[in-house]
Parts: sequence; C-alpha cells; structure tokens
Amino acid sequence: MESPVIEIPVKASQPYTVTIGSGLLGECGKYIAKVHKPCKIAVVSDTNVAPLYLEKVEKSLHESGFETVSFVFPAGEQSKNLHTFADLLEFMAESRLTRTDLAVALGGGVTGDMTGFAAASFLRGIPYVQIPTSLLADVDSSVGGKTAVDLKAGKNLAGAFKQPLAVLIDIDTLQTLTDEFFADGSAECIKYGVLGSERILDIYENGDPHASVQDIIAESVQIKADYVENDEFDTGLRRYLNLGHTLGHAIERSSKFGLTHGHAVAAGTVLICRAGEKMGITEPGTADRLAKINERNDLPVSTEFSAAVLTDSALNDKKRKGDTIALIIPEKIGKCMTKTVPVTELEGIIKLALGEE
Ligand code: GLY
Repeated sequence: MESPVIEIPVKASQPYTVTIGSGLLGECGKYIAKVHKPCKIAVVSDTNVAPLYLEKVEKSLHESGFETVSFVFPAGEQSKNLHTFADLLEFMAESRLTRTDLAVALGGGVTGDMTGFAAASFLRGIPYVQIPTSLLADVDSSVGGKTAVDLKAGKNLAGAFKQPLAVLIDIDTLQTLTDEFFADGSAECIKYGVLGSERILDIYENGDPHASVQDIIAESVQIKADYVENDEFDTGLRRYLNLGHTLGHAIERSSKFGLTHGHAVAAGTVLICRAGEKMGITEPGTADRLAKINERNDLPVSTEFSAAVLTDSALNDKKRKGDTIALIIPEKIGKCMTKTVPVTELEGIIKLALGEE
C-alpha cells in the first residue's frame, strides 16, 4: 500500500510547503495549480533527467492548464557555470516569460541551484518550484532557498537567497538512482540524524533505508526547515548544517572531486567526531557508532589523505576568510557546538581525527 503524502511547511520569509510522496511527478500540475495561477512555465532539466521525466511533468502541467517551454542542458557539475546560466536567462527572455510566469527545476542539485539563481535574477525575480530527483537534492539543495552557480575560483561563489514557491519530492524518482547516488544522499540524511534525529540513525543502523525513504526524507527536511526558519540568511545557527563539511570539502577537493560530495561528508562527519572525542567535546563512542552506520550503508569512514594535504585544501577554500576557522563539532547525538580555532591549530585537529598524532 502506498503511504500518504507528507507535507512539511517551511516558514521562511516566503512560506512554502515541501510535499513528499509517491507519484507526484504525474500530479505536479495539480500541486503547482494550488500555489500559482495558469501561466507559462520554463521547465529546466539536464540530459540525464529530461529523458526520464520531462514528458511526464509537461503532460501533468498541460492537464492543469499551464503552457510549457523546456531548457535542457548537459548533465554534470561542469554545466553549473555562468555560461549555462546566461543561456538559461536568454532562453527565458526568448520564451517571453514575464514576472507572473514560473520556472520549474526538474533534477538534482545542479539543476535546482542554477534554476533558482536564474529565477532570482530574471526580471529581478520570478517564482520557481523545485522538483528534485536525487536523494541529496531532496534533503539539501531543494529546501532553504540557497541558489548559485560555480565560478572558476570555486563552487557556489555567485548566487542568491531565493525561496521556492513549492517543493515536490517524488520518492519514485529514487528508484532510478544508482546505489552510489543513494549512498551519497544518505550521507546528508545521516548528518541530519546526528544533528537531531535518533529515528534517522536507527533506520540506517538497523532498518531498511530504501523502504523507509519517505520517513527519512521527511525527518531530514523537517530538521532543515527548522534551521532555515531560525536563520534563513545563514548568519548563525544554519551553519550547523555544515556538520562534517570542513573536512568533507577538504577530502572532496583533495580527491579533485573524484569522490562525491556525500561520500566525502560522510567521512568528514566521522572524522570530526573522532577529533571531538579526543578534545573532550564529543561523547565517547559517537565516532565508532557513526563509522558502523557508514559501513552498513556503503559510505567511507576515513580518508587516505594526510593531515597536511587536508589542511592545505581546507585553508584554500575560497569561501573561507580570516585567521580562524569555525568547526561544527557534535557534543552528542542531537547537540552540536561551534568551536572557532586559529587556522594554525587546524592541522593538529585533523591529525587527532586521523590518529596521526
Ligand atoms: N546546504 C546547507 C544550507 O542549505 O544551509
């Protein structure tokens, strides 16, 4: 029997609902009609996702009285740049979209981030809807209104805060994800577990994450919504969502992006707990528990890179500024703290994490 849809309100400056359920792609027109009157919709997707789902989405939009045009770009992070962004804006202009029209992002994080930024920029802002199709995008980039493209200097360096009008998460799309991509999204869900959900951890520890994916997504989105509501513009508490990301990004960059984001964050989360335990911050046993959860879910627990290499990568992050670095460290499951340390201490902390001391 199919589970009923779950609706999670996000009370941001522009409130919206995240709807999670089965069969939503084929009903997206009905859901969008609840929040927007009939108009022209630019559906944005990539060359991997469009062949799978674009027709279904367009059919549903037409049935609900929307006119559609579609923009399909080459799949991959390398497309998330100012050139594709400019092409998308030109496409919106050529399609004569107005401020009362709509953009729909149909795809993973690259599609969602770039469509959101184009929606924030075109005519100084048109509404957009997120229809994510990967577990990672379901629980992270589609919710919270961070939109961006990459610059040569680094990832996500040009963007805007722009909340979507609605987020529609069709869990059926996860059936076409490879095990590697499912694991990639699972890393972010496990991160939410550490931030505040024993239920998520229990499913990854003892249960069947595929069978419980709707609950995992709902619980993750609820935690993200709470952070976004408290700190929409990322000046304080929202930084806790970056748990595992300082080391994770360093691992990702050191691997020259050969390792995916989620896999790197999974290792980063275990490693920061290892360092936290040695610093007397993290409850003993937390790192071992997380390592077991990662292993059960085909995620890494450490890295082959040395503390020197990782420190270099972490400090070369173009978004980092100043002589200190703020690390998010769990005290225990459900409670994290920020520890701001001089950059000169980072290598020592990473050595603790790797057991290099
Ligand atoms: N991905 C972290 C955030 O949305 O704040």
